[in-house]
Amino acid sequence: MHLTSLVGAVYLIAALLFILSLAGLSTQATARRGNLFGMAGMVLALAATVALALENSERPVLVTLLLIALVFIIGATAGIWRARSVEMTQMPEMIAILHSFVGLAAVLVGFNSYLTEPAETVHQVEVFLGVFIGAITFTGSVVAYLKLSARMSSAPLMLPRRNTLNLVALIASLGLLVWFVGQNALVPLLVMTVVALALGWHLVASIGGGDMPVVVSMLNSYSGWAAAAAGFMLGNDLLIVVGALVGSSGAILSYIMCKAMNRSFISVILGGFGADTGTPAADSGDHGEHREVLAEEVAGMLRAARTVVITPGYGMAVAKAQYPVADLVSRLRASGVDVRFGVHPVAGRLPGHMNVLLAEAKVPYDIVLELDEINDDLAQTDVVLVIGANDTVNPAALEDPGSPIAGMPVLEVWNAGQVVVFKRSMATGYAGVQNPLFFRENTAMLFGDAKDQVEKIVLALAADSVSGAPALSAR
Ligand code: TAP
Repeated sequence: MHLTSLVGAVYLIAALLFILSLAGLSTQATARRGNLFGMAGMVLALAATVALALENSERPVLVTLLLIALVFIIGATAGIWRARSVEMTQMPEMIAILHSFVGLAAVLVGFNSYLTEPAETVHQVEVFLGVFIGAITFTGSVVAYLKLSARMSSAPLMLPRRNTLNLVALIASLGLLVWFVGQNALVPLLVMTVVALALGWHLVASIGGGDMPVVVSMLNSYSGWAAAAAGFMLGNDLLIVVGALVGSSGAILSYIMCKAMNRSFISVILGGFGADTGTPAADSGDHGEHREVLAEEVAGMLRAARTVVITPGYGMAVAKAQYPVADLVSRLRASGVDVRFGVHPVAGRLPGHMNVLLAEAKVPYDIVLELDEINDDLAQTDVVLVIGANDTVNPAALEDPGSPIAGMPVLEVWNAGQVVVFKRSMATGYAGVQNPLFFRENTAMLFGDAKDQVEKIVLALAADSVSGAPALSAR
């Protein structure tokens, strides 16, 4: 069989494996298998692409092979090093910076394609669009990386007439496309690249902290379209298919994130929602007094409870508290307490962040419920443990129309009998919004690192079982 058609067949199998991979990743039970399909697809895709590159090589085959091996070694070394060293809390920023590489690759492929391929209109449009999407993805992802890693303020950049600026950039790019197609000149391509780099930077810089979940998924989608554009320029069908899969799944994720935050995609793009991050609450006095408890007292509340719901958030990830939390849950369940988790779609800093952490700690996934599934049950819950969550349990979203997070669906934990909030201080969450929950009568604050505090509760409960104290005696 001719190598090109063999490669075509391998690409088809790889594409099917990628689709099976996405299907597998849609549920926790099949996620592992999904990852394996993805890895198998990638091995096949790489092997076929290298074989094709060697076959088409204009230099001696050995030189091409060495060049590919060199790139592999550099990429694999950096990739393995980062994958092993990255903290779970740094995953969002790592994903953002990886998206920027896809964008940069599309820009470089575009320029290479312009300089080496004959000028045909269709090809010119492919080059122009590829560079345009790639450049926006590149700088947008760099800004997202800087914001997510707190190297840049997450407050929205509010330039005067910012929407007009974006519109002017788009119209100018259209004009440059016409010039580029007409004259096949390098200048319009270069000018458009600068405009698109500035547009990507401005688009994401204008978006406030509260909308970052949508930005992460939006850039995920852009990186897919950038890869698909590179596929068109390189004439690589698999890259087009994979890019389209990533692009459309990112778009679906953006839609889900917008729904979770009750925001329209357009208003996210137009920016301005959410203030600075993690600032100590300046207006805490307006809300009244908060009440503090100790871990031992919380152990007492849990002993007396029949139903417990845990709503985890970003703080659980920072503290790596998921392991003692899993321990606490298995102890409570062994004593007959009905324990469930309520996971908000934007809890943490990454779509599915909490689900990953809980799965890592081997929490049974049938007790991990989503916001819609658990919200109505909270009123019949004895104790809710809010572990490192803040914005996702903020009643102001429903009760204060002037709040920056007004309208965002939240976990209505305040309807439960007793709420315990685990955090280190009275500081605000990612959106920088004060949380009236902390001052409610049925809320108690358990200050300190979430991991330490959960461990103390587990110790207090374990001491009961050793001393033979009547665990769960209140029932
Ligand atoms: P946040 O509102 O970010 O609040 C997390 C809380 O954890 C903080 O108030 C912090 O309070 C506490 N905390 C930090 N370290 C802790 C530790 N070691 N021990 C105990 N507590 C600790 O969390 P959330 O409810 O999960 O909401 C997520 C927010 O991030 C939303 O605004 C969302 O829009 C945004 N966001 C989400 C994503 C995605 S895709 N999920 C992406 C980007 C942004 P102290 O400092 O007082 O301890």
